Amino acid sequence: MATEKTFYIETFGCQMNAHDSEKVIGTLQQQGYRQVESEEEANLILYNTCSIRDKAEQKVFHRLNDYKALYKQGKRFGVLGCVAQQEGEKIFERAPFVSLVSGSASYRKLPEMLVRLESGETRITGLDDRQTEETFETDFTARLNPYRSYITIIEGCDKFCAYCVVPYTRGKERSRGSASVLEEARRIADMGYTEIQLLGQNVNSYRDPEGNRSFAELLAAVGQVPGIRRVRFTTSHPRDFTRDIVEAIDAVPTLCDHIHLPVQSGSAKVLKQMAREYTPEWYLERISWIKAARRQISLSTDIIVGFPGETPDDFIQTMNLLAEVEYDCVFAFKYSPRPNTPALTMIDSIPEIEKSARLQALLDRQREIQRVNYAKHLGKTLEVMVEGVNPARGQIAGRSSQNKPVNFTSSHGIAPAPGSYQNVRITATHPNSLVGEAV
Ligand code: 5AD
Ligand code: SF4
Repeated sequence: MATEKTFYIETFGCQMNAHDSEKVIGTLQQQGYRQVESEEEANLILYNTCSIRDKAEQKVFHRLNDYKALYKQGKRFGVLGCVAQQEGEKIFERAPFVSLVSGSASYRKLPEMLVRLESGETRITGLDDRQTEETFETDFTARLNPYRSYITIIEGCDKFCAYCVVPYTRGKERSRGSASVLEEARRIADMGYTEIQLLGQNVNSYRDPEGNRSFAELLAAVGQVPGIRRVRFTTSHPRDFTRDIVEAIDAVPTLCDHIHLPVQSGSAKVLKQMAREYTPEWYLERISWIKAARRQISLSTDIIVGFPGETPDDFIQTMNLLAEVEYDCVFAFKYSPRPNTPALTMIDSIPEIEKSARLQALLDRQREIQRVNYAKHLGKTLEVMVEGVNPARGQIAGRSSQNKPVNFTSSHGIAPAPGSYQNVRITATHPNSLVGEAV
């Protein structure tokens, strides 16, 4: 490799991956690497990959293929994340110009792997740590988002839902000590951040290895760190969703009034086949706790349509659940068969066209639900955190505490800085966003 150590990294997939990349970037910088903006400028090219659905995975191989000619110029390639863990050494067969393949459970060993890469080794792997008890922490995390900072509180997943690759790619569930989480929260506040997002595949499965705090207690403690104005957390699993989370949100005003609680299906039969370990009634009981809170808490969810064996009647039950809960946001996906998962052995007999039709029907129904939900904000004033400014249109974009996008104008003439707060009166509403004026 050339003498100056430069790297380019591209991240695919979820927020966990985005934040893993922030930690990887910090680790590389600590090893003397400088981050650059394109593959052409870099001598180390890294892709932090996602394999949650088939399309995400294909993207990575396309990207590798697009840039493989750069290998001849002495550039080196590394594949990180879920595709790396899932495909392992097979990546060296499919893309022989790749020198490093590492899953997220092995990132602690990155400094060591980088030294081997620099000494000219070609087939370096970090794939054997899925049973590790350790989490990946570094004091050098690069914070790339100007207004929101992330803290991973729990890694991996032990739930083994029938369709999901995560337990195989991210390894065993392991929580980080609450004292270390709080110390990072204080450090982030000292840097000037006011919003923290706690991350985990199942944040609310958190078990403090020091035995000091439950998830709800940790959440409340982060919300009480001086300087912090907004705390978000994602993703919650219905199975581990306890009432004290709602009580914490009621008691601590800095905890955002939004909960993302993936349901996946409204049919008891499908949920059982998915191995979700709850029934629609169990899920709806948790929703009733949330709706009974003193604060109005916004709800969002994930849904899979076309899971093997999902009948038209099962699908109607999902549609009915949407109408009952009245979510503010839904992420819906067509079922995608994934390697190693138990669902792979079930017959995926629902034709693609039928999966697409169900997805569209669901999205259409949800749009109408959101149209009504969002219209309730008309004429109200919300506190908005500024995320970006479009100077050409004089439009400022931000989010409410409930996580709703708000686009607004300001008559003061000065564009507010990302991360600042602004009270906005809502003058128009859409199914996916609110429009207003700064007051
Ligand atoms: N097919 C389709 N959607 C999936 N998800 C996870 N695995 C699959 C799959 N094999 C969805 C779930 C999960 C979200 C992150 O991605 O809804 O909550
Ligand atoms: Fe995947 Fe289920 Fe774990 Fe979520 S809880 S990461 S869907 S296995």
